[in-house]
Amino acid sequence: MNGKRIYMQEVATRDGFQIEQQFIPTDDKIALIDALSQAGYAKIEVTSFTSPSAIPALRDADELMARIARVPGVVYTVLVPNARGAERAMAARADEFNLVMSVSETHNIANLRMTREQSYQGLKSVIDAARGTEVAINVSLSTSFGCPMEGPVAHTEVLAWADRFAQLDVRGVTLCDTTGMADPRAAYELTHAFKARFPQLELTLHFHNTRGMGGANVLTAIEAGANRFDASLGGLGGCPYAPGATGNICTEDTAHMLDAMGYDTGLMLDRVIAAARQLPALIGHDIPGQVAKAGLIAERHAPPADFAAIRERALAREAQ
Ligand code: COA
Ligand code: ZN
Repeated sequence: MNGKRIYMQEVATRDGFQIEQQFIPTDDKIALIDALSQAGYAKIEVTSFTSPSAIPALRDADELMARIARVPGVVYTVLVPNARGAERAMAARADEFNLVMSVSETHNIANLRMTREQSYQGLKSVIDAARGTEVAINVSLSTSFGCPMEGPVAHTEVLAWADRFAQLDVRGVTLCDTTGMADPRAAYELTHAFKARFPQLELTLHFHNTRGMGGANVLTAIEAGANRFDASLGGLGGCPYAPGATGNICTEDTAHMLDAMGYDTGLMLDRVIAAARQLPALIGHDIPGQVAKAGLIAERHAPPADFAAIRERALAREAQ
């Protein structure tokens, strides 16, 4: 057992629900978040304070934040794209603003309708205004491992944007693999370079499992020094403004893998799996996550009903 602590951050009700076609009733979102609050997460990204016309699925953000039952020790964060979002997040008493912009100019314009420089200036004014308050600031850099429209994104470019925010004394930065373009080597290399350059920043890796590399990316990122991951219950997720986007790495699959390897995720896997098993009824379709279907490796199944007879026959043949 290695016992190393890995911090798990749930994003299903933000990254997951933002792309669902069917509006999920606010009461159901609250019940889910309240259940997840009792499951050992370090952080829960509850919703986003984006424009309701851009992300109609999360148009109930203000009400949601007002009505969830907050559990001490869990950080309740919200995605914020601009000053208007920050005002709403402040009124909602979010513990953390997860400010968002993309490293790719094309994705930034498609997703946020601003150039990167316009986004940066807007977010900088939010950070300046939040200084001296209780609110923590995290910056999510979308398309850090590649852009579905521009293609490869240079690690130097990612680090340069991280550096501009580091100079504003933010608490943390999230490197987002918005459409699952990271491979395990890139995950190692960018994590390693980030940790070497910004040892003071809280680093989160945000992988999507679009091409099946999510679990492998988590492991190489851990080798390179990461200890904090975004993940989504059931493997839901995706950015509606990124072509080909699909789900985040699945919380219960990732935690189950890390548990098996002896890491300490802090999660109560039985509660997480129970919540994941309720998702298909909630969202009206199947989930990509696998452990909620397969069960834990620790689970035992009964042998076939005629096992004793089969065994007798096998033993009799062996004795001949
Ligand atoms: N919350 C609520 N309303 C907002 C808002 C916010 N954070 N930001 C802007 N608006 C409203 C404005 O008040 C305005 O309303 P009005 O038409 O009634 O006057 C309208 O939205 C347009 O405002 P504008 O500043 O011109 O925004 P925009 O249309 O250029 O959109 C964003 C910019 C950033 C608000 C929008 O693109 C957005 O919310 N994107 C989020 C995308 C996202 O979450 N992607 C997935 C996560 S990575
Ligand atoms: Zn995402």
